[in-house]
Amino acid sequence: KRPAGAPDAALARKVTKVGVVGAGLMASQMALLFARRLEVPVVLTDLDEARLGKGVGHVHAEVDKLLAKGRVSADQANRLKGLVTGSLTKDAFADADFVIEAVFEELSVKRQVFAEVEAVVSPGCVLATNTSSLSLAEMGAALEHPERLVGFHFFNPVAVMPLLEIVKAPSTDDATLATAFAVGRSLKKSSVLVKDAPAFVVNRLLTRFMGEVIAAVDEGTPLETAEHSLDDLGLPMTPFALLQLVGPAVGLHVAETLHAAFPERFGVSANMAKLVASGKPGVYLPDFSLDPEAVALFAGG
Ligand code: 3HC
Repeated sequence: KRPAGAPDAALARKVTKVGVVGAGLMASQMALLFARRLEVPVVLTDLDEARLGKGVGHVHAEVDKLLAKGRVSADQANRLKGLVTGSLTKDAFADADFVIEAVFEELSVKRQVFAEVEAVVSPGCVLATNTSSLSLAEMGAALEHPERLVGFHFFNPVAVMPLLEIVKAPSTDDATLATAFAVGRSLKKSSVLVKDAPAFVVNRLLTRFMGEVIAAVDEGTPLETAEHSLDDLGLPMTPFALLQLVGPAVGLHVAETLHAAFPERFGVSANMAKLVASGKPGVYLPDFSLDPEAVALFAGG
């Protein structure tokens, strides 16, 4: 069945090679997913050898886990490792049909990335962004071909979460959108089509939920109470574990974007900003017990 709003699948272009800009955790998970489900070469790029090596290393480690669980054979594992390669230059994207960026959430950075990518790819190549909240219209404003820009927003953990937001910018054409839906289907994700609006749809709803949990703590509810009062509601994760998974800096960025767009409806917690400024990865220690220092940042008001 065609997802609501998806154009005719016959318009989709074939994808035979994928480029991923950024080799962070989310980007390397995406690279593995593309290689595994599309069975095409995937090239990761990043700014330096260290980041690139870490990204490719992460892919190999995830492949080894799949092998250990018996999800792939030894041959498939080797093939997957061979399909995902790293490159310091974007020239490796010259014959790619689908390039996705998952770099730092800053409009100027993403614009720069797409200017560099557009200089090397062929005219039919889809330019996809994994942005969680930035405007695609602004991101694509300086592109030569803004009709091939589309939002392709994954959720953490990328390998597991079925949801995929496909964002149509005002300029996105039907062939680009159809290709995005076809790729989403190959990745076995459930794609939803959303408009180019601040934080799209899913993060808008999640930020409302998380914002209320954080506001309750800001207003004096002990963090442990806010964290565990929904335990028996059947949610897959506690609120602060979810914050840890997403990353407090990302959560804060989305909240700031929504606050800028709808100041009366979305606040930005000063305690959240303190947590991010402290550089702490979240409110949990690596052994998943609450970090007293992080908790004190909130409770201190
Ligand atoms: N990477 C790869 N695989 C992972 C993983 C990760 N980070 N975390 C879990 N998995 C895999 C496990 O290996 C396991 O695989 P298996 O079945 O092959 O053994 C499977 O997922 C289930 O894991 P667990 O049994 O350990 O854990 P749970 O059953 O508790 O499920 C969960 C974990 C799927 C993460 C679940 O807790 C969940 O759905 N949580 C909600 C996550 C969520 O809401 N994400 C959206 C965040 S918002 C976002 O990302 C948008 C951005 O723009 C901010």
